Amino acid sequence: MPGPIYLDVDSDRCNLNSSIRKELAVIVCINLLHVSPWRSVVSLFKNTSKLLRPNLNLIIYGPFKIHCNHTSKSNMIFDRKLRNERPEWGLRDIDDIVTFASSKLFILENSYHMPSNNFLLVFSKQKTSIEQI
Ligand SMILES: C[S@@+](CC[C@H](N)C(=O)[O-])C[C@H]1O[C@@H](n2cnc3c(N)ncnc32)[C@H](O)[C@@H]1O
Repeated sequence: MPGPIYLDVDSDRCNLNSSIRKELAVIVCINLLHVSPWRSVVSLFKNTSKLLRPNLNLIIYGPFKIHCNHTSKSNMIFDRKLRNERPEWGLRDIDDIVTFASSKLFILENSYHMPSNNFLLVFSKQKTSIEQI
């Protein structure tokens, strides 16, 4: 089993050769989306939709808002601190991520509330209309 590979989600060269892609089982993204601009959410789904075969998972871990609400006071304070540091950073709303993900053929299969007000979001890549034939 090959080891983990670092992928720059924002890079258009975010690609892997076909032999690695064939072996790719899952893509995991830990604590990235709140310390990067929204465009990284866009690139993450855009690039992983090219890399993952249907039914494989993109797993995202970190703090999120739900339905525009923070899940704890500490997350709200953390979010404010991040936005003061870099206005384009901040806790993302799971609804916004799910909506964008569906435009890239990812559906939210499961979400787990994790310790310290974090979440684990399990997305699965759907078949394109051609792949469904
Ligand atoms: C808050 S740290 C999280 C590090 C580690 N995953 C953890 O949970 O402890 C954010 C990480 O995102 C990485 N990062 C920032 N922009 C990135 C990008 N465009 N593509 C991939 N990783 C990125 C940074 O290098 C940094 O290691």
